[in-house]
Amino acid sequence: MESHLEKQNRDVLQKYLKEMISTLPKENCWGFPEDQYQYQGFWFTPPFLQGALSAQQQFQAQPTDIILCSSPRTGTAWLKSLTFAAITRTSYNDSTTPLLSKLPHDVVPFMEFDHAQFSTNRHLGIPLLATHLPYSFLPRSIIDSGCKIIYICRDPKDTFVSLYHFIARHCKSQNAQPIQLDEAFELFYEGVSPYGPYWDHVLGYWKASLEHPDKLMFLKYEELVEDTVLYLKKTAEFMGYPFSSEEQQQGVPENIVQLCSFDNLSGLEVNKTGRHCRGQGNWEMENNIFFRKGK
Ligand code: A3P
Repeated sequence: MESHLEKQNRDVLQKYLKEMISTLPKENCWGFPEDQYQYQGFWFTPPFLQGALSAQQQFQAQPTDIILCSSPRTGTAWLKSLTFAAITRTSYNDSTTPLLSKLPHDVVPFMEFDHAQFSTNRHLGIPLLATHLPYSFLPRSIIDSGCKIIYICRDPKDTFVSLYHFIARHCKSQNAQPIQLDEAFELFYEGVSPYGPYWDHVLGYWKASLEHPDKLMFLKYEELVEDTVLYLKKTAEFMGYPFSSEEQQQGVPENIVQLCSFDNLSGLEVNKTGRHCRGQGNWEMENNIFFRKGK
């Protein structure tokens, strides 16, 4: 529970960050109602930048934490569901897992959004936390605590196409006019996209994974598509939750892959008709926006 003084300090910090952000270079692009701001080489929507900066000041990572990192539209929700299902496999069974009744994004919170708003948004028994922040923006405590990081990247062309459709659909739901595909392509190519430049985002994590292979696992969406069971097993091992030979004989990894498959998750009632960020203005959206083709 936050004390009065803590709330006061938080309000002062938020006011300071808001003022600082308003001085940064900005662009009105992608059809978003709000401007995008550039900070230390990357582009952000204001609430996420504010959340990122406040996480840098306040987030205290634990050595047992596992941080799921990605650029938008590269397989974040899939990674969240696979890792969540792997870690909680002894607490829930196929019919009780929260993945049946919640959007993957509501099962593993985002550091710069959900957690930055309310630290209670995090389920303390589950070590997973997600972020779209570039490597150079991660709060110092994540690096210093030595906690594990998993990054997922995706072919840039597929990432761009997925991002374009996501933003266009979101704009339409807000009665805003989406931009043309070629205009969006130029922006993406120039690096002006949410959390972009995409190339720098991937490179930051790639270089860090070469320096700290025991702490940072670098995954590709395409590899996951190619052999989901193999990469789930590798990921579980990396996280410190390896599948025992008995579990492997019982087909536990295969069950998790099936549970988290695009067809299964996108067909669940919660993901077909539910809503994400309910009551949060522009950020409220239909859960099904997160599932497009999955190929
Ligand atoms: P497409 O738009 O190409 O279909 P993110 O979760 O980072 O926003 O990534 C979204 C992309 O992952 C979308 O790609 C979405 O359809 C796909 N996706 C979502 N859930 C998936 C799953 N369970 N398996 C495979 N792909 C999935």
